[in-house]
Amino acid sequence: MEIRRLEGIFLWYLVCVFAISANAANINHLNIWPMPKSVSYGYGTLHLSNEFELRTDGSKFADASSILKDAFKRSLDVLRSTHELEFNASKIDPLLVLKGIHVVVSSPSDELQHGTDESYELHVPAKGSPPYARIEAKTVYGALHGLETFSQVCHYNISSRGIQVHQVPWTIVDQPRFSYRGLLIDTARHYLPVPVIKKVIDSMAYAKLNVLHWHIVDTQSFPLELPSYPKLWDGAYSVPERYTFADGEEIVSYAKSRGINVLAEIDVPGHAESWGVGYPALWPSKDCKQPLDVSNEFTFKLIDGIISDFSKIFKYKFVHLGGDEVNTSCWETTPHVRKWLQKNRMNGSEAYEYFVLRAQKIALSHGYDIINWEETFNSFGKKLSPKTVVHNWLGGGVAQNVVKAGLRCIVSNQDKWYLNHLDAFWQGVYSNEPLTNITDPKEQALVLGGEVCAWAEYIDASDIEQTIWPRAAAAAERLWTPYDKLAKDPEKIKSRLSYFRCLLNQRGVAAAPLDGYGREAPLDPGSCYMQ
Ligand SMILES: *[C@@H]1O[C@H](CO)[C@@H](O)[C@H](O)[C@H]1NC(C)=O
Ligand SMILES: *[C@@H]1O[C@H](CO)[C@@H](O)[C@H](O)[C@H]1NC(C)=O
Ligand SMILES: *[C@@H]1O[C@H](CO)[C@@H](O)[C@H](O)[C@H]1NC(C)=O
Ligand SMILES: *[C@@H]1O[C@H](CO)[C@@H](O)[C@H](O)[C@H]1NC(C)=O
Ligand SMILES: *[C@@H]1O[C@H](CO)[C@@H](O)[C@H](O)[C@H]1NC(C)=O
Repeated sequence: MEIRRLEGIFLWYLVCVFAISANAANINHLNIWPMPKSVSYGYGTLHLSNEFELRTDGSKFADASSILKDAFKRSLDVLRSTHELEFNASKIDPLLVLKGIHVVVSSPSDELQHGTDESYELHVPAKGSPPYARIEAKTVYGALHGLETFSQVCHYNISSRGIQVHQVPWTIVDQPRFSYRGLLIDTARHYLPVPVIKKVIDSMAYAKLNVLHWHIVDTQSFPLELPSYPKLWDGAYSVPERYTFADGEEIVSYAKSRGINVLAEIDVPGHAESWGVGYPALWPSKDCKQPLDVSNEFTFKLIDGIISDFSKIFKYKFVHLGGDEVNTSCWETTPHVRKWLQKNRMNGSEAYEYFVLRAQKIALSHGYDIINWEETFNSFGKKLSPKTVVHNWLGGGVAQNVVKAGLRCIVSNQDKWYLNHLDAFWQGVYSNEPLTNITDPKEQALVLGGEVCAWAEYIDASDIEQTIWPRAAAAAERLWTPYDKLAKDPEKIKSRLSYFRCLLNQRGVAAAPLDGYGREAPLDPGSCYMQ
C-alpha cells in the first residue's frame, strides 16, 4: 500500500515537472519579462524578413546620436546570434513576412532624466499588410523598451530555421509603475573593468532597469580620476585599477544610449578612508582615518571640487552623498578635532548632522537633488533638505515614515534586495513591495521606486553577472509591472522568470539558476528551463 502510494505521488510529480518544463520552454506562452501593463495577442505566425529594417518616417526624433538605430541593430543582433539563419523567404507567402519595424517617436529630444517618459505601444499585425510592426512612443527611451519587448516576442524556429513572431497580432501598451528602477554596483571593494560595467548595463536594459547606482569609492579604494583633486585616485588599489575621467564620461554615455541614468555616489563622511591616501589632511589622524576630518575646511573645499567635477559628467538630477554607518569616535578622540567640537559646542552626533547638511548644501549649489542613506533621516530627518531622497536599506518600517515626513524615498531593504546576500532568494526579491504600509496616494507618489544592490566585498568581474541575475529581474518586474498584474504567489511566475534567465544566457549573460542560493551552480543535470 505504502509503496504504491509513493509511486503514485512520484508519477504525479513527474507529470507536474513535465507540465512546468513544457510551459517554460513553450514559446506559445506569454514569456515577456517584465510583464507589460497590457497585452493582447492572437494565434498567427509571421516570419522576419532577412532584410528586416527600421523605418522612422513620421517620427519627430532625428536620432542625431544614433540611439535608436544602434538599439535596433542590437535587437537584431541578439535575435540572430542564437543560431545560424537558413531561412528562405521566397518559399513563404509574402503576406506572412514582416519586413521591418516602424518606430514613431513624438519628442525630438534625447534628454534622459529622472521622470523621462518611458511608455510605448507595440503593434504587430496579423498579416503582412502593412508588412511592418509598429512602435509608438513619446521619447526614444520608450521606443527602446518597445524594441526590447519586440525582441522577446520573436523566436528562432528550428524547423523554418528563421526568426518568427508567434501569437500575432500583438498589441502591447506599456509603461513603468515606478520611475526609479535601480541596480547598485560597487567599484571600491573590487575594481570592475569598464567592459564589465558595460555588460552589466546591457543586461539591465533587457530587464528595463533604468538607474545604475555607481558606488564609486569607499574605505578600501578610490579608483576615479577627478581633475580638481588629481591625487584622489592615488587611493586606487593599483594603477590599472582606475577609471579616467573620460572613462566616467563613456560609462554615462553608454548607459544613456540604453535608457539608463547613472547615479554617482560619494559616501561621506564615513566610508571615506581611501580619500586620504592622496590627501592625508582629510584624515583626523594617521591612526584614526575616518570619518573625514569635520574640523578641516579643506574637507568641504574638496567635496565641492568633487561635486563640481561630477556635475560635468553625471547629468542625472540626483547625486548620492551616502551618510551611512558613521562612527564619530575618531572625532571625539583626536585632540584637534575634539577641541574643534568643544569650540563649536557639538558632540559627535551633532557634528555628523553638521557634516551631512553642509555636504547637502554643496550638492544643491551645483544643481543636484540629493540621495542619502536612511541613517541621516533616522538621526535628524527634520533637518534634511526638502530635496532629499532617503535611501532605505536597514529594514522595514522606514519608507512609510519618510513619506509621512513629506520626503521622497527609494527602497533597498537589505533582507530582500541586497543581492550580495546569497540567501535572499528570488521569491523574496519578487515579493518585496515598496508601497507596503503606504496607502495615501500622495505618500505613495513620494516612493520613487527601488534598487537592488550588489555590494562587492565578495563580488568582482568573475562573479558579478551570476550574483545579479536572475534575482535582479525579479525586482525589475516588481518595479515595472502594475501592482494588480503581479503574482501574489511568486511560484506562479517561476516558469516565466526561468524563461527569462535562459534568454539572458542566450544573450551571453551568466545568469545563475533560480533554484539554490544566489549565483550557485546548477544543482543537477537538466534543462535550463527547469533550474
Ligand atoms: C530560395 O528558394 C527559392 C525557391 O525555392 C530558390 O529558387 C532559391 O535558390 C532559394 N534561395 C536560397 C538562398 O537558397
Ligand atoms: C515553426 O515553423 C513551422 C513552419 O513554418 C511551423 O509549422 C511551426 O508551427 C513553427 N514552430 C513553432 C513552435 O511555432
Ligand atoms: C566606533 O569605533 C570605535 C573605535 O574604533 C569602537 O571602539 C566602537 O566600538 C565603534 N562604535 C560602534 C557603535 O561601532
Ligand atoms: C548630543 O547632543 C544632543 C543635543 O544636546 C543630545 O540630544 C544628544 O543626546 C547628544 N548625543 C550624545 C551621543 O551624547
Ligand atoms: C509595516 O509596518 C510594520 C508596523 O509598523 C512594520 O513592523 C513593518 O516592518 C512594516 N513593513 C515594511 C516592509 O516596511
